[in-house]
Amino acid sequence: MQPYTPPEFGAPLPAAHPSPDTIELLRFRRSTSADLLTGPGPDAPTLKSILEIAARVPDHRRVSPFRFIIFEGEARAKAGDVLARAFKANEPGADEARISAERGRFMRAPVVIAVVSAVDATHRTPEWEQILTAGAVCQNMLIAASAHGFAAQWITEWCAYDRAVLDAFGLGPTERIAGYVYLGKAKEDPRERQRPLLANHVSRFGEGR
Ligand SMILES: Cc1cc2nc3c(=O)[nH]c(=O)nc-3n(C[C@H](O)[C@H](O)[C@H](O)COP(=O)(O)O)c2cc1C
Repeated sequence: MQPYTPPEFGAPLPAAHPSPDTIELLRFRRSTSADLLTGPGPDAPTLKSILEIAARVPDHRRVSPFRFIIFEGEARAKAGDVLARAFKANEPGADEARISAERGRFMRAPVVIAVVSAVDATHRTPEWEQILTAGAVCQNMLIAASAHGFAAQWITEWCAYDRAVLDAFGLGPTERIAGYVYLGKAKEDPRERQRPLLANHVSRFGEGR
């Protein structure tokens, strides 16, 4: 990986980065289902780079309304215990196979990053904009992971919404999971999914509609 020093505050930066590779990445970008991920995960400098890029998002008035929780190695199993406990509490009749699947949920990839949306309600930047920033963080993370040679998927699943899980992961009462981003190598390449027909999503102001 190229050595990298973040630009200093106020340093001049290019307004654009013409890059056919980036166009290619974005045109063919595809998530890989967490079930189809495996090791190895990114090494420490690569993970740092992925997080740096993820954090480098448009952010109205520099609120930084997000934070990351890294689940790697043994911590994934500990998180699995949290999930299994919460699942059992929610569904006391669940069989052992189901509970064991929950215990293994975070083991599907070598690294899972929780992107936490941490809205500052006292800030004059509207909550909606702060939430959008957290979404942009997740997307930047997928792109950075891909450019570093890793497959990824941005998912939420039930464990993004369960209060007992959120408490165990240390989320405050107003924090939310924007996504769990699973990172690893793909066991197999994904296939294209259906995409929106652009014409159904584009209009020109002044021309009907
Ligand atoms: C906020 C958010 C939550 C998502 N949660 C899930 C999920 O829980 N399970 C799932 O299979 N896909 C989920 N997805 C969809 C996948 O991330 C992804 O969009 C899809 O698998 C294929 O998209 P792609 O190949 O265009 O990236 C979610 C997407 C977003 C934006």
